[in-house]
Amino acid sequence: SSRVTLGPLVAAIDQGTSSTRFLVFNAKTAELLSHHQVEINQSFPKEGWVEEDPKEILQSVYECMERTCEKLTQLNIDISNIKAIGVTNQRETTLVWDKETGEPLYNAIVWLDLRTQSTVERLINKTPGRNKNHLKHKTGLPISTYFSAVKLRWLMDNVDEVAEAVLTHRAMFGTVDSWLIWARKGPPWPSVYSKTSCPLYFDIPMEILPKVRSSSEIYGLMKSGSLSGIPISGCLGDQSAALVGQMCFQEGQAKNTYGTGCFLLRNTGAKPVMSDHGLITTVAYKLGRDKPACYALEGSVAIAGAVVRWLKDNLGIIQTSTELEKLAASVGTSYGCYFVPAFSGLYAPYWEPSARGIICGLTQFTNKSHLAFAALEAVCFQTREILDAMNQDSGIPLTQLQVDGGMTSNRLLMQLQADILCIPVVKPSMPETTALGAAMAAGAAEGVSVWSLCPEDLSEVTSEKFEPQINPEESEFRYARWKKAVQRAMNWET
Ligand code: G3P
Repeated sequence: SSRVTLGPLVAAIDQGTSSTRFLVFNAKTAELLSHHQVEINQSFPKEGWVEEDPKEILQSVYECMERTCEKLTQLNIDISNIKAIGVTNQRETTLVWDKETGEPLYNAIVWLDLRTQSTVERLINKTPGRNKNHLKHKTGLPISTYFSAVKLRWLMDNVDEVAEAVLTHRAMFGTVDSWLIWARKGPPWPSVYSKTSCPLYFDIPMEILPKVRSSSEIYGLMKSGSLSGIPISGCLGDQSAALVGQMCFQEGQAKNTYGTGCFLLRNTGAKPVMSDHGLITTVAYKLGRDKPACYALEGSVAIAGAVVRWLKDNLGIIQTSTELEKLAASVGTSYGCYFVPAFSGLYAPYWEPSARGIICGLTQFTNKSHLAFAALEAVCFQTREILDAMNQDSGIPLTQLQVDGGMTSNRLLMQLQADILCIPVVKPSMPETTALGAAMAAGAAEGVSVWSLCPEDLSEVTSEKFEPQINPEESEFRYARWKKAVQRAMNWET
């Protein structure tokens, strides 16, 4: 059968916390042509610790790439039309490897990991007035377990191989993007603006840090595999990539992505805006070497999809993630049960590493369906908290919320979200927004230039809108209860 003619294609590696994907888009229409996904194992060696295997991550990328190429060939699509590859990934997850052998020197410490809690508390205690925001004017961030610097410090202090490699000038530090790009093409390895803005560095030698590069430029070519020779030319943290993929290029535009965690970013244009309400300030993207950096305010929620995985793997009340919607919909209420999944402390707007998860409001009547409903509501309430903070910081309330990410296929969740925010929730019909953003950055890079980022050239995005259906009083009542539950989660020991 004859080959399908499509024009240039652009691919994206989307290396998330829970899975890796490789996706191929038509650069003219932004249509998703094929993809492959592989789950990533997480290990929990001690309470609060979360690790992933760097080699498994790398292997999952190779596998997804090769399998997607096979699928395209089966569809009679010529893979030589793939002109560029973008990389997007879980941010803050921290790796150190040996630049001579290419061997990782420890597992990747995942962003959710809490092992640095005592270090963070010690650092905060040293600041005047025990102020977790002491460095915020410089970094845009609170001192928190979330960011890479404290994780890297832990590796240097606790892993002999890392300490030794630092001393002998063989150590390289990076987030997952740096690791993947380094492994695919060899040094020098980049880390892009959207992620270098996150780590806080403490007594860390400059030579082990990656170079800062823009989000859209050729970093190097693929060294092997079916896509050997193709430029890697886009690199964005997954949350920034979703902002690009949702076409939020204008100041004031925002999106919320429901992945393992949940991250609401609002474009603040050419200037960094400091939050007074617990949000972080980050570089969103810099789409080309000579282009200006664009900033964002971000509300980070640690646990969103992760609560579904927990109900499945730890409690066993569902067998697959998709069952959760059915279970919750069967009751349509939590029956007064509130579930604060503060498994990794609480991030925005509280930044409280010592918070722990609680389930409250239980009665003899409560069953697993109510718990399922409360878990979905928790995701919505957490989003409400960051939306409120965002509105207070900017003074211009959002009139609707653009959403994306795996959990948005849960229609009950989307409706609940609109009900709890009291504004419409708008979901694009193509859910792979994160990968699309990375593909756009790769396709638009100088020397590739198969994707235009001019607003008039961008294809129309079709979407679905969920309107609020409950009255605002009921919404406020439930939200007030949630806030009480959060206070319990923060002070559960006292
Ligand atoms: O900062 C962590 C974030 O980038 C993780 O995203 O989609 O894996 O929850 P996700």
